[in-house]
Amino acid sequence: MSKEENRGQWGSRSGFILAAIGSAIGLGNIWRFPYVAASNGGGAFLIPYLVALFTAGIPLLILEFAMGHKIRSSAPGVFAKLNKKYEAIGWFQTLIAFFITTYYVVIIAWSFSYLFFAFTGAWGTDPKAFLFGDYLKLGDAPSTLGNLGASLGGLNLKVAVPLLLVWGINYGVLRMGVKNGLEKANKIFMPLLIIALLVIVVRGVTLPGAMAGLDYFFTPDFSKLTDPKVWLAAYGQIFFSLSICFAIMYAYASYLPKKSDIVNNAFMTGLGNCSFSLISGIGVFSILGFMAHTQGVSVAEVSTAGVGLAFIVFPEAINQLPGMNGLIGGVFFITLIFAGLSSSMSIMEAVVAAISDKFKLTRVQALNRFALTSGILSLLVATNGGLYVLDIVDYATNQYGIVIAGILELVILGWFFNLESVRTYVNELSDFRVGKWWIWAIKGTSVLLVVILALKIKGEIAA
Ligand code: PHE
Ligand code: NA
Repeated sequence: MSKEENRGQWGSRSGFILAAIGSAIGLGNIWRFPYVAASNGGGAFLIPYLVALFTAGIPLLILEFAMGHKIRSSAPGVFAKLNKKYEAIGWFQTLIAFFITTYYVVIIAWSFSYLFFAFTGAWGTDPKAFLFGDYLKLGDAPSTLGNLGASLGGLNLKVAVPLLLVWGINYGVLRMGVKNGLEKANKIFMPLLIIALLVIVVRGVTLPGAMAGLDYFFTPDFSKLTDPKVWLAAYGQIFFSLSICFAIMYAYASYLPKKSDIVNNAFMTGLGNCSFSLISGIGVFSILGFMAHTQGVSVAEVSTAGVGLAFIVFPEAINQLPGMNGLIGGVFFITLIFAGLSSSMSIMEAVVAAISDKFKLTRVQALNRFALTSGILSLLVATNGGLYVLDIVDYATNQYGIVIAGILELVILGWFFNLESVRTYVNELSDFRVGKWWIWAIKGTSVLLVVILALKIKGEIAA
């Protein structure tokens, strides 16, 4: 096998774009974006959000696509090519991807359980008590990191069994390679994901109370636009959502064919992801509006994000649905599952590609080593009390890891590297050319990330 064949290649342009959008569209689009938008100015949030998309999101996608394509390597290789001493930055990003994997797969496993519960009605009338007590078997919160071990208890089979399924799917897809695995899987998952989302939206907007939910989501509060925290929330959401600065897009772009329109691909990915976010916001908030309506409370009171939204509030709402609630509930968890799987594959690929590039291993050898270590670690999150582990890893990686990785990447590339040469490279490949503004977007974003980190450390912006 030639070196090129061993690395694998996307079979078609749409294959790459679907995979990149698949990576970008994840749990964050469904359970985080709507809440962040609603609580940061509603409709007015679209202004900082789109500004963040065009000044940071798309420029960084162009950068990562270009570097991965040019150097044909995963993150460590890209940075090593610039200068051997920068290789560590690529490994740092890879390490973040490794850690995110360990808990992200567990959330997908919960979604599989809940897909099943939607039909059996296992969560009963008190989904919150069910989640923490019956399903996660959560013990007392550990008061220090030191006594974390004691609160974990044994392996929770209710989580470990679906987790095995999640690993099985990811392992199978990655083992099949880029074209036959990742590309095919995304070509199946993404259309199904869109259909599932549309079912949720159509059901949602036709429910009583939906309009109040949408009002809450969209009504613009322009006064928020002068609050720097709102702008920081927009940039933060864009980074995580587009899967940038944690090694993924380098690996994916390294499988692009020689002739690839980098700029166009970046725009499609950025715009595709944001459209999905908006549509899922409509679905989520119309259902939250319905919830508020049935409980006779305000939408603000039921509005939440993350685990609470997906595994408590949604089950509560599903209980109240006027008909076919098992089916609609099932479709909601299918949405989470497909969005999650297409992201988990990408984050695993980032790590597997790095291992195989560095140690000259075949895909399968690298995959086996990765799956064994990451799989075992993920079991820690599948223990009773694993939610505490999840919170710690999630906090460390998302609040600090990605920001630090972003700073390292953008400072090195933006200020110590000739971005003009990348711009020329990109423009030779793309129909739509990028101007000098692109270089300033990268440099400016590096400064902004430093500000975000400083504010986080000072505790001035929400963790
Ligand atoms: N963009 C993803 C999301 O919104 C982030 C992510 C990608 C997380 C890949 C994990 C793996 O959920
Ligand atoms: Na995804």
